Amino acid sequence: MNLIKPAKRQVADQFETERLVIRRYQTTDIEALYAAARESIEEVSRFLPWCHPDYSIAESKQWVTLVIKNWGVSNLFSFVIEEKSSRRFIGSVGINAVDLHPMVNLGYWLRSSETGKGYAIEAAQGIIDWTFAELQSQRIEIILSVENNPSKKVAEKTGARHEGILASRLLLHGRLHDAHLFALTRDSRLDDHST
Ligand SMILES: CC(C)(COP(=O)(O)OP(=O)(O)OC[C@H]1O[C@@H](n2cnc3c(N)ncnc32)[C@H](O)[C@@H]1OP(=O)(O)O)[C@@H](O)C(=O)NCCC(=O)NCCS
Repeated sequence: MNLIKPAKRQVADQFETERLVIRRYQTTDIEALYAAARESIEEVSRFLPWCHPDYSIAESKQWVTLVIKNWGVSNLFSFVIEEKSSRRFIGSVGINAVDLHPMVNLGYWLRSSETGKGYAIEAAQGIIDWTFAELQSQRIEIILSVENNPSKKVAEKTGARHEGILASRLLLHGRLHDAHLFALTRDSRLDDHST
């Protein structure tokens, strides 16, 4: 079997979990993304420097335009996380590095008013299922600073295996951080589901 196949480009652009709708970005999300990012600068900026104190609506527009334009043609799939009953924009989950290897990288963030409710783990589980169903990926990696305890809890709860600590793997605000490497493989996921 040739494992290094290109990603399947016709992929489901929306799926649901128990409490969430996880869907492709639309241009109407620009303002909601901006509001969510602005309220979350303190928590999100530390580990995701794109969410900085001067974050502007122009940057939201630039990001949403980029992910819409590149959907299915680049190596990034970024999704909006919406709370099902209110349809509120509560954060984002996505995978990147599609096609570079038979693996992808998983990332997530929540707006600060929606943390502590289990939405990140629910969205992460959802996109792991989506990835193995929609793409040829054999492996999903989650890489996070050793200082990012909330993200570590999310990674652990996905069932990902802790494979080690990567020295000086992330550069955040001009400082190198060691990083946890967590990974799920298609085979281990199938084994988990069959037991
Ligand atoms: C990382 C991040 C998404 C985690 O958010 P979070 O809300 O802590 O994670 P979850 O949504 O999985 O929620 C887990 C918490 O909700 C609680 N919870 C409440 N109801 C729950 C439910 N129904 N199901 C599961 N957990 C629930 C859990 O007890 C847990 O709280 P605890 O940490 O005090 O034990 C968030 O901190 C964030 O956006 N950080 C900044 C960006 C970032 O670092 N991203 C990752 C880069 S690698």
